[in-house]
Amino acid sequence: MAQTGTTYPRWIPLLGGLLGSTTCGLLLYAFSVFIKPLQAQFGWTVPEVAMAYALICLIFGLVTFPAGRMSDKYGPKVIVLIGSLLMAFGFFMVSTIAPPTPEALAAGNNKSQLYLLYLYYGVICGLGGGMVYLPPISTAPKWWPDRRGLATGFTVVGLGLGSFIMAPLATKMIAYYGSALPVFKYVGIAMGIMGVIAALCLKLPPAGYKPAGWSPPAPAAGAKATRDYTYEEAKKTPQFWLLWVAYFCGSFAGLMVIGLIAKHGIDAMTIAYRAKEGLDAAAVIPKASADQIAMAAAGAPATLAIFNALVRIMIGPLADKIGTKKIFIVLFSLQVIAMLVLFPAGKTAALLAAVAGLIGWNYGAMFTLFPATLLQYYGPSAQGSNYGLLFTAWGVAGFFGPYLGGKLQAMTASFFVPFIVSAVLLALAVVIIATLKAPEQKSA
Ligand code: 2OP
Repeated sequence: MAQTGTTYPRWIPLLGGLLGSTTCGLLLYAFSVFIKPLQAQFGWTVPEVAMAYALICLIFGLVTFPAGRMSDKYGPKVIVLIGSLLMAFGFFMVSTIAPPTPEALAAGNNKSQLYLLYLYYGVICGLGGGMVYLPPISTAPKWWPDRRGLATGFTVVGLGLGSFIMAPLATKMIAYYGSALPVFKYVGIAMGIMGVIAALCLKLPPAGYKPAGWSPPAPAAGAKATRDYTYEEAKKTPQFWLLWVAYFCGSFAGLMVIGLIAKHGIDAMTIAYRAKEGLDAAAVIPKASADQIAMAAAGAPATLAIFNALVRIMIGPLADKIGTKKIFIVLFSLQVIAMLVLFPAGKTAALLAAVAGLIGWNYGAMFTLFPATLLQYYGPSAQGSNYGLLFTAWGVAGFFGPYLGGKLQAMTASFFVPFIVSAVLLALAVVIIATLKAPEQKSA
């Protein structure tokens, strides 16, 4: 399609966004696959390994803010290029951490390797990942002013796709090599190649760019000409911070439950199995039945991942048509219901998978809807800075949500309390979004 002001095909930045977000998906959402093999090889505890994940979420989420600001200023290419190289380097370097000798392990000398995991995966990959994630989200809608929601969806769908590829790929590679370390080596190299191609696909359109044959909707008769908010103006509006709180609540609840759902299924199905077989709580379950329960429970995170990916693309066109507010209210309300039924649903595999799919759908939608809401409220000019700052809500939630979920479950010896806490947070998000009004338009 020909365009006004440039001959650059505008689907190329979308491709860059798709590739870049897929590298972030490889990086982030399949980490649970590594926990057991790393534990076995290095003698770390589950909370010790999980801290690497909390760190990457925090740093990834916080670095999106400077990454978005720099992308608005210097363009997305250089930021994504540096980010990809950092991410690939960090991931690759995990493969160089030498496992402790049996003597060192027996003496408890395995902490220096743990700090290297925190440095390479938590800090370096976190820095790189945030730099790869944010710039395409703010760039693609500038090329697609006529389909902003759809364009945003393309730049985040890879988070779902990447985790969908990585979980089975890493599981197979770990079984083949008998270690998780080669996964970091080979996937790290692949991430570097994909990230560099993504960076080369990205650039800002010329100022005032409009796709051929499209004109912005005409202002109502007598209305003043309007302009975009600057970043300084946007962050001074109360709406911006209310959106931050709603994003925090949705992410905190989602990440807390995503971390617990498979274990909840195993526990609930085990209790149901014991009741059916008339076994008491101390009786050992036959291995074949325990394996069957684990497989059935694993259907929940897999279904969650599929819906988490699909929704990111599918919700964009609807947001372009009817705006984000109504969709948000429906999805956040559905998420409250999903959290309330999650506890009893755990004992039936099909029911658990259905609720997990709904949770994945509502959770994944946020990553298209929040950037699209900012575009509606403040315009595309400062979207990198605006969305970078808003996304810090996800980083803070990612650090504390899974940790608190695990703590609450351990303290109450039940998944009921963390699920109820999630429902309450999501109900707060519904109230915030329902009462939110778009800020006044800025006149030129
Ligand atoms: C997302 O899923 C990284 O959590 C962010 O898009």
